[in-house]
Amino acid sequence: MLIIGGGPSGLLLGQLLGRTGIDNLVLERRSREYVLARIRAGVLESGTVELLREAGVGARMEREGLIHAGIYLAASNRGFRIDFEQLVGGSVMVYGQTEMTRDLYRARDEMQGPTLHGVDEVRIHDADAALPRVSFVHHGREHFVACDFVAGCDGYHGVSRNTIPEELRREFERVYPFGWLGLLSPTPPVSDELIYASHERGFALCSMRNPALSRYYLQVPLDDRVEQWSDDAFWDELRQRIPHDASERLVTGESIEKSIAPLRSLVAEPMRWGNLFLCGDAAHIVPPTGAKGLNLAVSDVYYLWQALKRHYLDGDDRGIELYSETALARVWKAERFSWSMTRLLHRFPDQSEFEQRMQQAELAYLESSAAAQASLAENYIGLPF
Ligand code: FAD
Ligand code: DHB
Repeated sequence: MLIIGGGPSGLLLGQLLGRTGIDNLVLERRSREYVLARIRAGVLESGTVELLREAGVGARMEREGLIHAGIYLAASNRGFRIDFEQLVGGSVMVYGQTEMTRDLYRARDEMQGPTLHGVDEVRIHDADAALPRVSFVHHGREHFVACDFVAGCDGYHGVSRNTIPEELRREFERVYPFGWLGLLSPTPPVSDELIYASHERGFALCSMRNPALSRYYLQVPLDDRVEQWSDDAFWDELRQRIPHDASERLVTGESIEKSIAPLRSLVAEPMRWGNLFLCGDAAHIVPPTGAKGLNLAVSDVYYLWQALKRHYLDGDDRGIELYSETALARVWKAERFSWSMTRLLHRFPDQSEFEQRMQQAELAYLESSAAAQASLAENYIGLPF
């Protein structure tokens, strides 16, 4: 099995396959240090947490991860809580993608799973034939590897998705007219639980990594550059967008990291072509408002691991044949949730007053209806897989 991409989906797949006795090679374009320096997602669904435990990489997460049984939604100066525990009997875990990736690299070292960093010019050949091959350049030399299957875990900018011929592939996409400016700060979080805040100046999110490390986001115009945002400007803007009691408590400090990510929804269909399988961001992107990107990568990996186990251990290919359909059914539900949270909480540049009133009415309905809250909670903690 050849895995392209040493991000969370490639590493988790490698770990699960390795523990099942299925040999795999991971090819990663960047260095390990580069991969581990990327600050990305922070919220793990309960299914993700369970799978990480099953993969034997849950120990540090259990010790250091923070269990969250709810979130706050706020509009202007008013806020209310969505109580996951009470509404749907579940919770999420706050544990950074960086930490999860570090745990997976450590486990891969222990397993002595082969991983090549700094590979270039990766190409997939004959993916629809019985024995696909992958070519790549490593340390200036070209290599060819033949394998049973190829897992395309190489993210949005990878080569795997575009290997599926255009006439067989469909892409469904929405690009949002704004981005998120994220800031990591070595200060205590402003709140014990995440705050998702809708405000006339734009959306804001208060998150965290641990009791001494906070992560905050601001909705910003697409053409804003990170250099335009001093730390002071960020803190001033955040204070205006979150409820007063939170802004009064806010502890600010010098940022450790600041970056802008554009928001996009994308689904590529199908997620399998012959013996090539797409997993995670290689197949789909969600806007981050629902905290689903990383979790969706994990559920794809789960379905693919199950399918390959059935193939290798039982000689049964039904899982492989159904992989794309099974994964896409869950992907579209997470896309829907991420899109609805994005639409509910952001200011759109061309938004009419009617649409603003619709957002307000939807938030008011959520605040007053246990049924509406239960639906949000069910999706946020993650649909089963
Ligand atoms: P990736 O993490 O993208 O990993 C793919 C790997 O493949 C990378 O290491 C890459 O270097 C490697 N690669 C790419 N091309 C090649 C190639 N040709 N050959 C070899 N290797 C290759 N989600 C949230 O839920 N919340 C967030 O706040 C959030 N913030 C994000 C911020 C940014 C800037 C981005 C890009 C994503 C963010 N996400 C967030 C989404 C989440 O991080 C992803 O869904 C998750 O990383 C998906 O994991 P993956 O392994 O599928 O892809
Ligand atoms: C974080 C990111 C998200 O997109 C989200 O919805 C919640 C938390 C985070 O980085 O902590």
